[in-house]
Amino acid sequence: MKIAIGNDHGGVELKRHLVEYLTGKGYEVIDLGAQTTESCNYPVFGQKVGQAVVAGEADYGVLICGTGIGISIAANKVDGVRCALCSEPVSARLAREHNNANIVAMGARTIGPVMAEGILDVFLNTGFQGGRHATRVGMFERIEKGEQLD
Ligand code: RB5
Repeated sequence: MKIAIGNDHGGVELKRHLVEYLTGKGYEVIDLGAQTTESCNYPVFGQKVGQAVVAGEADYGVLICGTGIGISIAANKVDGVRCALCSEPVSARLAREHNNANIVAMGARTIGPVMAEGILDVFLNTGFQGGRHATRVGMFERIEKGEQLD
């Protein structure tokens, strides 16, 4: 399975840890940066990872900034992205089961590396439940197309 990963300056250290963790588990990791702690703009990396996932270059995406908030907002501006900001594994499970999230975002300033590993383990190993959730997830695409839902 291929994972695209991206981060800003605040997420470099946690990103490096997670690249090693995921590679050790046999995932192919595409690291789209940033690679240094020099101040940079998180939307750049949210967009890059979002585009890689939507294009099918990666099965899932992982995004990290200080809080995970800015980079998840940026990723969700890319049509086809369903990015969930998670700070614990229950949200990661439900993001996959109910929302069919294709990217998980995390905050390097809000969670530690062991929690991040737990979130990834759950996110990458949980399937979408479909059914009533598929109807709702389908509405995301309709919003992207400019349709008024109700
Ligand atoms: C960068 O200082 C910080 O704003 C960023 O990492 C993130 O927390 C934004 O949401």
